[in-house]
Amino acid sequence: MKLETIAVHGGYRAGSSFRAVAVPIYQTSSFAFENSAHATDVFTLGESDDPAYTRTGNPTQGVLETRLAELEGGTAALALASGMAAVTYAIQAITRTGDNVIVTTVLYGSSHVYFADLLKEAGIEARFFDPGSPQEIARLADERTTAVFCETIGNPLGNIIDIAAFADRAHAAGIPLIVDNTVTSPALTRPLEFGADVVVHSLTKYLGGHGNSIGGAIIDGGTFPWRDYPDKFPGLNKPESCYGGIVFSEKFPDFPLALRARAVLLRSLGAPISPFNAFLILQGIETLPLRIERVCENTLAVAEYLRAHPSVEWVNYAGLPDSPYHGLAQKYAGGLPSGLLSFGIRGGYQAGAKFIDSLALFTHLVNIGDAKSLACHPASTTHSQLTEEQLRESGLTRDLVRLCVGIEHIDDLLADLEQALDSATAATSATATATTGKDS
Ligand SMILES: Cc1ncc(COP(=O)(O)O)c(C=O)c1O
Repeated sequence: MKLETIAVHGGYRAGSSFRAVAVPIYQTSSFAFENSAHATDVFTLGESDDPAYTRTGNPTQGVLETRLAELEGGTAALALASGMAAVTYAIQAITRTGDNVIVTTVLYGSSHVYFADLLKEAGIEARFFDPGSPQEIARLADERTTAVFCETIGNPLGNIIDIAAFADRAHAAGIPLIVDNTVTSPALTRPLEFGADVVVHSLTKYLGGHGNSIGGAIIDGGTFPWRDYPDKFPGLNKPESCYGGIVFSEKFPDFPLALRARAVLLRSLGAPISPFNAFLILQGIETLPLRIERVCENTLAVAEYLRAHPSVEWVNYAGLPDSPYHGLAQKYAGGLPSGLLSFGIRGGYQAGAKFIDSLALFTHLVNIGDAKSLACHPASTTHSQLTEEQLRESGLTRDLVRLCVGIEHIDDLLADLEQALDSATAATSATATATTGKDS
């Protein structure tokens, strides 16, 4: 089936539950067993798909998981409470103390903190490299490297990674490639088709699409040959002490990572998605392809408008032909690199702050991927915990304003940007005049 059809029908047909046309919300903590034999089956992986307890599985979550796996072309998915839970569980399912992971420097702020600081506390080293240099993977890898991790389009820089080159380098070193596909969504990019092994998502963004629920997911591509590396991935290849000695890669060779994340991590650490959030995200997914089409059309128009504006120093959007990422945008996103765009305003930090405060239609907040247009200043919000050096490594400047363009009418968006740029320019010139005592 095509993506637009999966988005509407994946994982559910009106047939059970009174033939409800919308996916039913199973707002329940637990599910009764038919009898003791049924209870034993439910607790034996592979015997029964029936749910027992909403922390580890629920039919509403299940529809979401099937739909996500189909959208990304994977073998199984695990929905979780947030995108960060998805990032951390994907790594933790295959990584132990003493291991290391290879990670791009340009990452969403909380992911950067997780890799740079929290993993260090757990005795796991994150080895960072420039996303423009996939050849670095060979140099950084060793026999304890368990993953290469990157984002399809870096948030907030908007850089696009060469997924196929990353996958080739990772596989040559016997390492799976995990791709955070939040910023492009499967409507634009399906990383598994380019060689990635695992995809993670913050469902909070484009998939949910309406700024109303937090959620995350891991999608297992079912492609990585885990069994070829028995010592590197003991969690998948050796008897699992947390689950009756099961060997995930033997019993479930098509999706051992997703299943270990559910049966071991989700079960004992928590962070399930609520059935209601799963329902809201399913509603959002139904219109994902349509929303993304409009988002990309609007974003290109905004990028062209900003680039021609005298108050704007620079614009970074891979949809523009002179962007260094334009070629990769053609290859990986059909030339439509999502709604994330950044620019620098003349007058630096002060002008940027005035611009943000003057916006009337764009909402000032830190989310992305909403139907509504959003704006923020990463250096003072999402990335404010980073040191100067980390900011530089992430390619962030203090004047960078991030827009995430929504699906409103383009005329209204441009009018809002125009008046906010005018206010910012007026405020900056007034300050300059007050400082120098001269009109200019
Ligand atoms: C690329 C990316 N990955 C992961 C996350 C974390 O997702 P969540 O906020 O759902 O935990 C975000 C959040 O902005 C993100 O932009």
